[in-house]
Amino acid sequence: MEDAFSIARLGRILRKNNILQSLKMFELDVLAKYMRTQKVPKGNPIIRQGDPALSLYLIASGRVSVWVKKGFRTAKVAELFPDQFFGEMALISQEPRNASVVAEEDTALFVLNRIHFEEVLMRNSAVAQEFRKVFFERKQVNRSVAQN
Ligand code: CMP
Repeated sequence: MEDAFSIARLGRILRKNNILQSLKMFELDVLAKYMRTQKVPKGNPIIRQGDPALSLYLIASGRVSVWVKKGFRTAKVAELFPDQFFGEMALISQEPRNASVVAEEDTALFVLNRIHFEEVLMRNSAVAQEFRKVFFERKQVNRSVAQN
């Protein structure tokens, strides 16, 4: 069986990802080399709202939930699955993490450091544009959740 962290798996996740589609093959190779791996057991936090942002995460296997705290209320705003990413918002806005992310199952992640994420955005404006699009969509969801 293919390991969650195999190069083949990472290659497939990167290619399948809509946002990264405009990256050329060699750019994907570079990106794959920058990525490290992290395993998070079920129930453990991955990101805490309010923390400074150091990395972007791609889900290799497992499932995570996303929680936004406003005042005394905490609301679940999303669940994310293999091939999806998180942690881009604070990297783009240069603000603290705007939500907490928790592993709902044993989860395997590919992790990209802030500096390499910024390099990808700088080198490829189409990719930067796509990340920004998702950023605004997620921000919108969180705004409406906070109002309800
Ligand atoms: P960031 O703010 O860096 O850290 C928390 C992450 O949770 C955030 O980036 C997004 O990647 C993710 N996130 C926040 N809100 C949503 C949402 N509404 N839907 C999906 N993911 C979200």
